[in-house]
Amino acid sequence: MKALLPFLAVVFLVLLVIAGVKAAGLYFVFGVLVPYAAAAVFLLGFVYRVVKWGKTPVPFHIPTTCGQQKSLPWIKPNGIENPSGTGGVVIRMLLEVFLFRSLFKNRKTKMKGEYLTYAWAPWLWLSGMAFHWSFLFIVIRHLRFFFQSVPVPVQAIEHLDSILNWGVPALYITDVIFLAAVTYLFLRRVTLSQVKAITLPADFFPLFLLFGIGASGVLMRYYTRVDVVGVKELVMGLVSLHPAVVSGIGTIFYIHLFLISTLFAYFPWSKLVHAGGVFLSPTRNLSNNSRVVRHVNPWSYPVKVHTYEEYEDDFREKMKMAGVPVERE
Ligand code: HEM
Repeated sequence: MKALLPFLAVVFLVLLVIAGVKAAGLYFVFGVLVPYAAAAVFLLGFVYRVVKWGKTPVPFHIPTTCGQQKSLPWIKPNGIENPSGTGGVVIRMLLEVFLFRSLFKNRKTKMKGEYLTYAWAPWLWLSGMAFHWSFLFIVIRHLRFFFQSVPVPVQAIEHLDSILNWGVPALYITDVIFLAAVTYLFLRRVTLSQVKAITLPADFFPLFLLFGIGASGVLMRYYTRVDVVGVKELVMGLVSLHPAVVSGIGTIFYIHLFLISTLFAYFPWSKLVHAGGVFLSPTRNLSNNSRVVRHVNPWSYPVKVHTYEEYEDDFREKMKMAGVPVERE
């Protein structure tokens, strides 16, 4: 049931495009207005989120620490698990952003006889890496629509991606990896009982959306074919701020574009914004130097305290009457 609503939402989006483009001929709305609106919502939303995070005070260093902190010279510190300076933090962030290092260390607990043991659980890490890296490669490849002459690195990636030379047009390896990874990420949410229990409809929606984007892209490239020259003309018009309706591009392209627009507009308000959040996460981007630097809460103000001595002075007689021992007679 948790999956049904998001699934129907994506089906509704697809039907909306079919009705709008194929039946009502609203090419300007779906080819120009919607992408611009989505780009604006994405940009403003992302800036809003980052500014809000940036304004949140972090008075203490609160890094996640899993290794030995730098302390006495004869105790070996772990500079990446528990970085004490900026260099270590940068390495830790790079490993996190490009290799999802903390996810790699994911373990699952299970009983082995009477003992509780920890087993390596690489599948989430593997599928996460497969998904994100193939997504990146696909997006880079798409830059061919955004430049008049295709940049050499984009050509190189295209060449590498289709190196198997299977079929006409040649199959891109990342297309297969992308769809397989999204499918796995969906299946684990419906088959693993613990994951199922904590899954929300908001976890399924982006998965269906991404699958819809991938599937419509694959349909366009390998089956129905669209006028790629027309697509490039439309995209160049959009990015040069001289938008023009281009006729003759199939409805499947507008479905692709509308799902992407939805993804972008949805991005800043959803869990997907972790792509920006990882850089502003205090548990990741701070060093652990609490044995070197005394961090004083900047909001600390002089508090009028009532010491034990004063307390005893106030209540000494009553304490003695009640048989409570006192420090001074
Ligand atoms: C979130 C970003 C996007 C993703 C994940 C995505 C995904 C895909 C995938 C998996 C394919 C299959 C073939 C291939 O890999 O090249 C594809 C094809 C295609 N995409 Fe996208 N796409 C994205 C953005 C866009 C945008 C912004 C446009 C243009 C406005 C676009 C236009 C096309 C076209 C025209 C094809 C067919 C290419 C061909 O026939 O060679 N896509 N897309």
